[in-house]
Amino acid sequence: MIDARRFISFEGIDGSGKSTQARRLADALRGTGRDLVLTREPGGSAGAEEIRRLVLEGEADRWSAGTELLLFTAARRDHVEKTIRPALARGATVITDRFADSSRMYQGLRGGLTAQVDQLHDAFVGIDPALTFLIDLPPELGLARAQARHGAEQRFEDMGLDLQRQMRDGFRALAQAHPRIRVIDGARDADIVAADILAVARAHLG
Ligand code: ADP
Ligand code: TYD
Repeated sequence: MIDARRFISFEGIDGSGKSTQARRLADALRGTGRDLVLTREPGGSAGAEEIRRLVLEGEADRWSAGTELLLFTAARRDHVEKTIRPALARGATVITDRFADSSRMYQGLRGGLTAQVDQLHDAFVGIDPALTFLIDLPPELGLARAQARHGAEQRFEDMGLDLQRQMRDGFRALAQAHPRIRVIDGARDADIVAADILAVARAHLG
């Protein structure tokens, strides 16, 4: 059995600051000499990065929620097999920018597929982080930050503010149900957010 205690994820709506904060936590922990793997979803392994292009580019209605769930689960399985489990097995700490909670929200809640998300997760993924940072902020702010980036990966951001609101509420409800999820106020200066996160991570990792 792999020790998942060193497995940490960042979750939250688009533009909440996950990538910024995941990178900062990784840098801070590497600075103390830790073997650290920073990864992301969708993606994080060669096969999963290919699936990433399928799911994030193109029209908003390109895939149904069910098809999306299968693609995200396939990507996650590859990510766990090729990147996460080997890193944990050699004693590294793993930080991932999004993981299964994103499927619980974007495919489960949004697509009405909550039971299927859990079934597929149990059958094909089988691991959850021991600590999850939910970066919480008003959807208007997240969307404004995300849209300022202007990349090709706009499929989800194009789904608009109502979806972001629903996802934010869903993430907060999920945090209430799972003690591993720590809610962090992301509407503050990035330095202050990073200091908060580092303190929680240090206490967790010991
Ligand atoms: P996510 O990965 O959640 O989509 P990012 O970390 O990419 O979010 O941040 C989205 C944008 O907002 C980036 O341009 C980033 O530089 C900026 N940003 C991140 N954190 C903050 C913050 N605390 N205050 C202001 N801007 C921020
Ligand atoms: P990401 O690149 O993290 O976008 P952002 O930096 O804007 O937060 O993720 C892209 C999109 O993928 C995001 O809108 C959420 C979606 N997504 C799912 O729908 N299900 C999933 O399981 C994952 C991992 C991501």
